[in-house]
Amino acid sequence: MRMAYLFKYYAGLYDGFMKKFNLDKNDEILKSLGNVEGKKILDIGGGTGTLANLLQLKGAEVTLIDPSLQMVQKAREKNKHIRIYAKVLEELEDELQEEYFDYIIIRDALHHMRRVDEVIKLSHRYLKEKGKILIWEFNSRTLKAKTIYCFERLCFERCHFFTPESLQLLCTPYFREEELQLSYGAEMLYKGEKRGKDEVNRTY
Ligand SMILES: C[S@@+](CC[C@H](N)C(=O)[O-])C[C@H]1O[C@@H](n2cnc3c(N)ncnc32)[C@H](O)[C@@H]1O
Repeated sequence: MRMAYLFKYYAGLYDGFMKKFNLDKNDEILKSLGNVEGKKILDIGGGTGTLANLLQLKGAEVTLIDPSLQMVQKAREKNKHIRIYAKVLEELEDELQEEYFDYIIIRDALHHMRRVDEVIKLSHRYLKEKGKILIWEFNSRTLKAKTIYCFERLCFERCHFFTPESLQLLCTPYFREEELQLSYGAEMLYKGEKRGKDEVNRTY
């Protein structure tokens, strides 16, 4: 598996950077999720675990996955009650085979993933019936997103940013009752409920 340099060298600075540039929109995400007590949540690309920590403290049972050893080390230091896998979703078939989640969250991470179709398809699979996915991503049409794209490319990070339309196109086959909020400046919030198997118009 290709490992990104960006997060290897940047893990120690990550939380401070997010705070300084006000990129850490935990409150908006928590508000959108509502009461998470007793809910099973999978945080894909959960990084240093800032959001996972808050969710666990609010009573959720949280699993975080992220391929960066340096990022997940920070998450482990933050909260020992989060189940953490330093892997990508595609590698977790054995560990997650009988697991189903109420929510899957992908915050500021989808644009780093190479096989986004596979990740969305597997997210559908690992959700409970009527489970929801929440994706927080940059809107590639905004200046701030373009600046971040340039920064990440300069750090040799291969990334792929989304427009609102391309994000929805990716998710619509697997999720219904979709909401796409563009009122967060450079970022957008996508939410969708798992479609029934018969509704999914791609085979898996
Ligand atoms: C910008 S950080 C976001 C971390 C966290 N979600 C947050 O909002 O604070 C992006 C994370 O995506 C992770 N990542 C990169 N490729 C991934 C993949 N294929 N699957 C899961 N996570 C991945 C990186 O290791 C990094 O920790």
